[in-house]
Amino acid sequence: MTETPLTRSPADRPPESGRSAFRRPGPGLPAPERPASTGSAPEPPASGLTASGPPPAASPVVPPSVAPPVAPAVPAIAFPQDRTCPYHPPAAYAPLREGRPLARISLFDGRDVWVVTGQGAARELLADPRLSSDRTLPAFPSTTERFAATRNRRVALLGLDDPEHHVQRRMLVPSFTLKRIAALRPGIQETVDRLLDRMARQGPPAELVNDFALPVPSMVICALLGVPYGDHDFFEAQSRRLLRGPDAADIEDARDRLDSYFGSLIEREEKHPGDGLLGELVRDQLREGRVDREELVSLATILLVAGHETTANMISLGAFTLLGHPERLAELRAEPALMPAAVEELLRFLSIADGLLRVAVQDVEIAGTTIREGEGVVFSTSVINRDERAFPEPDTLDWRRPVRHHVAFGFGIHQCLGQNLARAEMEIALRSLFDRFPGLRLAVPADTVPFKPGDTIQGMLELPVTW
Ligand code: HEM
Repeated sequence: MTETPLTRSPADRPPESGRSAFRRPGPGLPAPERPASTGSAPEPPASGLTASGPPPAASPVVPPSVAPPVAPAVPAIAFPQDRTCPYHPPAAYAPLREGRPLARISLFDGRDVWVVTGQGAARELLADPRLSSDRTLPAFPSTTERFAATRNRRVALLGLDDPEHHVQRRMLVPSFTLKRIAALRPGIQETVDRLLDRMARQGPPAELVNDFALPVPSMVICALLGVPYGDHDFFEAQSRRLLRGPDAADIEDARDRLDSYFGSLIEREEKHPGDGLLGELVRDQLREGRVDREELVSLATILLVAGHETTANMISLGAFTLLGHPERLAELRAEPALMPAAVEELLRFLSIADGLLRVAVQDVEIAGTTIREGEGVVFSTSVINRDERAFPEPDTLDWRRPVRHHVAFGFGIHQCLGQNLARAEMEIALRSLFDRFPGLRLAVPADTVPFKPGDTIQGMLELPVTW
């Protein structure tokens, strides 16, 4: 996410073309004080969210300062590009993997910007306040024409730097702590079981994206926020337009519709505050003047959109990846306790939010290179999370590797607020799906399953399965 809540995208591609799953390459990703922590954990305090249980041994963090000076200039390649296999970074990014920890890329508008490709450098720079996340800054990089045109609208939380960001984040952290998410697990399990019951009643076959992967996080985030799930067709459609609309006008229109939708929801909450997070924010923040209406509308939008689109993609692409790695799936079936580690490894391996964006507001020295004030910086998580120095044999799925220092959830002050919720949803959804349908398999050849273009959150457009 970051023209949209979580990610960015390019312009010159017909939307939703039914691309096959395996396209054959043709001829031809100071802050005042730390936020109130919700538990002791090795995770950097910036996020304020604790990891579940004792984390496995940490994967090595490659200290960027000792990284060799930047390799000779690799010609700037275009970014973003399409994957040729949905669970591997685009083949065209291979030169970026050689040019660690920094390289140059060229964007749709001809601008060359820095791309961060080393895991250590990524963590250092994402935690550096001299890199701004403010999309309205003139030099902020845009990876798509359509998002470049919408950058003048402020984005809550993700589009703010400290201290403003800190004020908003502190309002939300208590709702996403491990303890709060643990209390939600029985409800998530119930939602998952109800959807699997429906699949069993109506199938086989089933279309896993719309029958399961999307409804799970959509229902859960609605319950958490206090948004009526009955409106899901509306907000899911607007979220799709916000993330993958064909042009700026479409994105603006989707944004306007979501703004007015949340405007009326907030009015309703003011009259009859509910017990969801929206009701809480109206009662404790809006009424107390700590947040204004426009900010609250933007916050609600980012929570709803970031809260379902991302996890839906991880559940569908995760299921597709597991079906494509039967030996790993068998291992999981034999040892269900591996699921939390498997979810972490899938997050690293799939890196669905590929291309976090920042702009330097001061010169920054890193790995023998100076990122000049005003220069754009893109973090290609799919390349960073395949840094062989941090993740040996990075192109291999391995449930037993120490993997906690991936950047699939970002890092630093903007590290994903919903990561605990996403992990719980993925663990419960994937475990229950493969337990319930031991014979689950693709209903069509893998290379005909359509997946998303490279310019948005990665995932499957649809996933026909049978059992
Ligand atoms: C597997 C699913 C998810 C992935 C891969 C993911 C990924 C990310 C990433 C990479 C960022 C940082 C963006 C940046 O630094 O530019 C982020 C931020 C964020 N995510 Fe997630 N996310 C997921 C699920 C969720 C869920 C379930 C929520 C629930 C509300 C959520 C809410 C947010 C919010 C509010 C931010 C902005 C945080 C801030 O700026 O302080 N995400 N996410």
